[in-house]
Amino acid sequence: MRLVDKVVLVTGGSQGIGRAIAVRFAAEGAKVAVAGLGKEGLEETAAYITDLGSQAIAIEADVRYRADVDRMVDDTLREWGRIDVLVNNAGVNRTAPFLEITEEDWDWHLDINLKGTFLVSQRAAKEMVKQGNGGSIIQMSSVNGLSAEADQAHYNASKGGINLLAMSMAVELAPHGIRVNSLCPGFIETQLTKPLIDNPTAIAEYLKTIPMKRVGQPEDIASAALFMASDESRYMTGHCMVIDGGQLIKLS
Ligand SMILES: NC(=O)c1ccc[n+]([C@@H]2O[C@H](COP(=O)([O-])OP(=O)(O)OC[C@H]3O[C@@H](n4cnc5c(N)ncnc54)[C@H](O)[C@@H]3O)[C@@H](O)[C@H]2O)c1
Repeated sequence: MRLVDKVVLVTGGSQGIGRAIAVRFAAEGAKVAVAGLGKEGLEETAAYITDLGSQAIAIEADVRYRADVDRMVDDTLREWGRIDVLVNNAGVNRTAPFLEITEEDWDWHLDINLKGTFLVSQRAAKEMVKQGNGGSIIQMSSVNGLSAEADQAHYNASKGGINLLAMSMAVELAPHGIRVNSLCPGFIETQLTKPLIDNPTAIAEYLKTIPMKRVGQPEDIASAALFMASDESRYMTGHCMVIDGGQLIKLS
């Protein structure tokens, strides 16, 4: 077991990739605070974890608001007294052509995906610095943070920002033994991608862009996150790991 007694905070843990990471980390011995929106889903994730014999708490909180962010960190500290690993996974995506993106669309993506990542990162990093034992921070970016997909300018910009935020944090936090890396998944089967998966023509067309000819599963991302959280990646920081079935390396 690779995360025995580590305290982990995962945002956006009510479903999808966040839930898979929370459950996988717990199976490796971590105590997990599952934070985000959707009380029922958060409690369900926490219940999966306690069924595994590990410890979990569910915290309803919106990453856009500093008061909520402070509360999720304070609740975690009250329960276990420390935070060793942070996974900033909460995120949203609603497509729109560039010429039709409203100011509200723009703010919604940037506030949740980028500002939320900043707020949670800064508060948790301050605690890690105080604790003095280093830590690992994992930012959920996307292949859209490295390459532009049509109809997603706001999402692409938010994920590109996350990659540079991760690198900037990695540089400044390295002296404290805190590593900061980002994950760049390709197409993963979750509620977020369900509309495309449920459309047989669209998904057949989309699969042509993926050399491995399948979509990814949340567990594929959880495995990469586990590597980033554990000491096995102890000399890796500021890195963006792509997990996309080969999509980004293919020209045509
Ligand atoms: N599914 C994919 O193909 C894919 C690919 C690349 C990156 N990602 C990223 O992975 C992350 C998880 O995506 P997913 O596919 O599991 O999506 P999902 O919609 O299933 O889960 C998103 C999670 O974020 C939470 N969330 C949304 N807004 C929030 C807020 N304001 N505050 C707190 N929590 C909030 C939701 O409640 C949910 O738990 C996102 O950051 C997404 O951009 C997903």
